[in-house]
Amino acid sequence: MKTIEDLNVAGKRVFVRADLNVPLSGATITDDGRIRAVAPTIAKLLQAGAKVIVASHLGRPKGEPDPQFSLAPVAVRLGEILGTSVAFATDTVGDSAKATVAALADGEVTLLENLRFNAGETAKDDAERGAFADQLAELADLYVGDGFGAVHRKHASVYDLPARLPHAVGDLIATEVAVLKRLTEEVERPYVVVLGGSKVSDKVGVIDNLLGKADRILIGGGMAYTFLAALGHEVGISLLQKDQIPVVLEYLERAKANGVEFVLPVDISVSAHFPDTKTFKPVPDFEIVDADKIPADKEGLDIGPKTRELFAAKLADAKTVFWNGPVGVFEHPTFAEGTKAVAAALLESDAFTVVGGGDSAAAVRILGFDETKFGHISTGGGASLEYLEGKTLPGLAALEG
Ligand code: 3PG
Repeated sequence: MKTIEDLNVAGKRVFVRADLNVPLSGATITDDGRIRAVAPTIAKLLQAGAKVIVASHLGRPKGEPDPQFSLAPVAVRLGEILGTSVAFATDTVGDSAKATVAALADGEVTLLENLRFNAGETAKDDAERGAFADQLAELADLYVGDGFGAVHRKHASVYDLPARLPHAVGDLIATEVAVLKRLTEEVERPYVVVLGGSKVSDKVGVIDNLLGKADRILIGGGMAYTFLAALGHEVGISLLQKDQIPVVLEYLERAKANGVEFVLPVDISVSAHFPDTKTFKPVPDFEIVDADKIPADKEGLDIGPKTRELFAAKLADAKTVFWNGPVGVFEHPTFAEGTKAVAAALLESDAFTVVGGGDSAAAVRILGFDETKFGHISTGGGASLEYLEGKTLPGLAALEG
C-alpha cells in the first residue's frame, strides 16, 4: 500500500475519506474521538500544501438529505481541532461542493455534506455506486483512504473511488491495521477478549474465529442473556436472541474442546424499566440478582458486583486484551459500573490493551478514563471485528492496488 509520503500532494486536490460518524445529541457532538483521530492526517496534507476535501458518512440516512444527519456540527469541531477554518459544502457533488472545492487555496480544507445523502454511496448496484464515484472523482486529483471505521463497507467513497484516482492509505488506517495485525499474528498470552454490546448475531463471526485464538472470552452486555438462556436460565424480559441459542451452545462446546475459557456473568443489575439515558432519572426498582435468578418481569442492564470482581480477576494476568462492546447500559450512571470496572481492569493490567468499537471507545472517554493509558483505542467497531474475523475488507482491498 502506498502512504501519503508516496504521493506528491502539493497544490493537488486530495480527497480524504474519513469516518466522522460521531455520536450526536441534537447538534452536540458527545464524543469527538473519531474527529481527533483523523485530524493529524488532514493536518499533514495541509502542511504539505494540498487542497484537502474531507468526506464522511454520519448515521444511516435513507439516500437523501436529512438535517438530523448533517455533518455541519462536525465541520465546526474539525476546524477547532485543526486550528483553521473548514469550509462546509452543503451537498456532496452538487453546486455547493463544486464551488467550495474550486475556491480552495493550497493548504485549505473543506468538508462535504454527508455522503449518504446520495443514494449512490451505499447502493448495492455496482453501476449506481460507480456513477456516484465518478462524480466524486471529478472533485479531486488524489485519494487518501483514512476512514477505518467504514473500511468494511463496499460503498462508493470507500471502495469505488480509490479505483478512479491515484491513492494512498492514511496514517490512521495504517496504525489501526498494524495494531489489529498484532492481535491476529503472534499474540502474547494469556489473550483475553471481552465482548459486550447488544447482539450475539453481530459477534458470531468474531467468536467463531477467537475460539481458535483467545485463551479466555468474557461475555457481558445484552448478548450475555442469550448465553444465560442457552444454559437454561430464566432471563426475564432481557434482550434475547432465541435463534442464536444453538450457535451459542455450539460455541460453548467448542470452547471446552479447544481449552478456551468462557466467562459469563454470575450476577446482574436488573430493573423492570429501561433507564432514561437523557434525563438520568433514578431507576427505583433496580436490584442485583444472581445470573440464574433474573425475575420474569425484569431485564438485565449491567453486570453485578460479583461479576465485576470476577472479570477483573480474569483480566489481571492478561498479556493481551481486546475489548469490544460495553457490558451494560453505561449511558445511565446506575448501569455504568460494569463498563467502568472493565475499563479500570484494563488500565490496571500490564497487558497490551485494545479497545475496539465505536461504543466501547466512546464509553471509555465519556466515563472519564484517560484514553492515552490504553494500548490502542480503535475508531472501528464493525471494521475491527470483521478484520479479526479474517474477512477481506473492501476499503482496504481497494487501497492495495
Ligand atoms: C461505525 O460507526 O461503525 C462506522 O461509522 C460504520 O457505520 P455503519 O455501520 O452505519 O456503516
